[in-house]
Amino acid sequence: MDKYHKFAELLLGSRYAVALTGAGISVESGIPDFRSDEGVWARYDPLEYGHIDSFQADPAKVWNLLKEMDAMVESVGPNDAHYALGELEKLGVLKMVITQNVDSLHQKGGANNVVEFHGSFRTMHCNDCLKSFHRREVSLVELPPRCTCGGPIRPDVVLFGEGIPDEAYSRAFDGASRCDLMVVVGTSASVAPASDLPLIARRRGARIVEINPEASELPRSVTEMHIMAPAGAAFRNIMKIVKSMQTEGKN
Ligand code: APR
Repeated sequence: MDKYHKFAELLLGSRYAVALTGAGISVESGIPDFRSDEGVWARYDPLEYGHIDSFQADPAKVWNLLKEMDAMVESVGPNDAHYALGELEKLGVLKMVITQNVDSLHQKGGANNVVEFHGSFRTMHCNDCLKSFHRREVSLVELPPRCTCGGPIRPDVVLFGEGIPDEAYSRAFDGASRCDLMVVVGTSASVAPASDLPLIARRRGARIVEINPEASELPRSVTEMHIMAPAGAAFRNIMKIVKSMQTEGKN
């Protein structure tokens, strides 16, 4: 049996399937990932543009990257992989999407139970007085955008050197502990604590399937099956098989 049929069987036979996604799932929507040759970190030094200390020292500089990411997030839509996860949730197969992405494409693709492990661009807050803003309330004409208190405003995304928001952390670790199947899509699995989630799931007896055209940093002992393909193509294939299996099941 080929990997696609095997994975579709694992999905339909699972009690509590969870997805863990990274930047790779949004590449086919037009958002570059971080660590491939043409990724974001090939153009911006993550310590200079992605670290909380850099933001505190020079918010205008970090906003050069943030504004580029914000514009990308505002301009793209979900691709077939996002829609597939939304459909698998609707079918009752997928119980949770844990994403490291800040692009809100999983929600636009129909998923509801989405844990945004690294936050999102939808909301922002003042670095000094912590006042919160909706994205559309903040003008990016001048950088950094400033609060009425004078402090620089920043998106509610997790920068290097910052912790994961408590609620996202506990929901994600709960999902990883409860699942009996975790599909890991489009992540290099190189950043903790997100990269710990598949290890926790595996230790609790879950089966781990990866979808990624390249190898990730996940140990081979953790990944049971690796579908080496772009997420969009892989999920178009998987959804065809899932639907035919469901029809067979009904007949
Ligand atoms: N389909 C599936 N996977 C893909 C595709 C695709 N079309 N294109 C690229 N990939 C894979 C790459 O092979 C790589 O393994 O997606 C992965 C992207 O890895 P990274 O660029 O490291 O992104 P990610 O794993 O999400 O990074 C984690 O690091 O920079 C921080 O906070 C940032 O959330 C991010 C975190």
